[in-house]
Amino acid sequence: MSKKTVLVSGGAGFIGSHVTVELSQAGYDVVIADNFSNCDETNYKGVCRILGFEPPLIPMDFCDKAAVYALFEKYPIDAVIHFAAFKAVGESVSEPLKYYRNNLLSFLNILDAAKHKGGCNVLFSSSATVYGEAETLPVTEQTPRQPATSPYGNTKTMCEDILRDSVRAYPGIFGIALRYFNPIGAHPTALIGELPRGVPNNLVPFITQTAIGKRECLSVFGNDYPTPDGTCLRDFIDIVDLAKAHVSAVGRMLDGRMKQGYEIFNVGTGRPVSVMELINTFERVNGVKLNWKFAPRRPGDVVSIWADPSLAERELGWKAVRSLDDTLKAAWEWEKYIADKA
Ligand code: WQD
Repeated sequence: MSKKTVLVSGGAGFIGSHVTVELSQAGYDVVIADNFSNCDETNYKGVCRILGFEPPLIPMDFCDKAAVYALFEKYPIDAVIHFAAFKAVGESVSEPLKYYRNNLLSFLNILDAAKHKGGCNVLFSSSATVYGEAETLPVTEQTPRQPATSPYGNTKTMCEDILRDSVRAYPGIFGIALRYFNPIGAHPTALIGELPRGVPNNLVPFITQTAIGKRECLSVFGNDYPTPDGTCLRDFIDIVDLAKAHVSAVGRMLDGRMKQGYEIFNVGTGRPVSVMELINTFERVNGVKLNWKFAPRRPGDVVSIWADPSLAERELGWKAVRSLDDTLKAAWEWEKYIADKA
């Protein structure tokens, strides 16, 4: 059987690079396309070192419709995984048009090109942000979505709907939305990982940058939440586990095992971990002392969210297996690797 080709938009980024590695190791031909608007070539070079070859890399912007059409002409794309998007929640509030234009237009162009070619399997990277502050926990895929609290979150909800409606309307287009919880960690080789530009918004990069001395002190946003230790609860999912969920989902699409034309799966561990528990675990497994302090709540944060991942286990045969200890060790190895390179 000939190898199937998977296009990974945003394949040079944090999640895209890990997905590229797992797909390639599972036997797919991967084509990476990225405009490097929020990353450099570090992860791509890491991917090449891990794989021992250079997957094709097309520098391009998915907002450029002609370029997207040309890409679909050039490669026999069996499935596309769409990561290329802006993702800073705070910036999306101050620059909503930038977020709507980029995140919606790039996805519309992919779907247009897929339709033009007579169909394609489309996997969209969605987010647990679509659940907002859920009334019941853990959240299943049936848990109602809440109005998004940021334009970034809104683009995730809107793209899910655009994919659902496209599948309904255009024969040959099939869609899966994976709703990620909080992806953290790095590849066990420490050759690829998260490389935020400027001051990190997310917890784990802020922890590792504080531990290495790039940041003075980590602020723990809120210690008076109605949770066991007063800090927020999240479902931290290892990046390699998360990447493997994509391999399962792509396999399901390409083998014709979907039960409906459009499907949604939670990608999480099912285990709530508090911000303080994460910090304590990081210190313990890595033997480092972190400088941290309590600070006021961060506007827009939900108190608690974690997944019911049983649908993914049942239907995709996927489940998170890496321990939080190993994930946080990998995050620290990656930070040290980056500091050594600098
Ligand atoms: C986790 C917890 C913070 C930083 C966001 C997006 C979501 C998704 C992943 C993105 C919260 C606390 C954080 C810090 C802290 N997708 N925290 N000090 O907010 O759950 O999810 O990232 O592409 O859509 O909203 O993740 O890592 O920012 O925060 O105390 O310096 O850590 O308050 O409770 P979040 P996060």
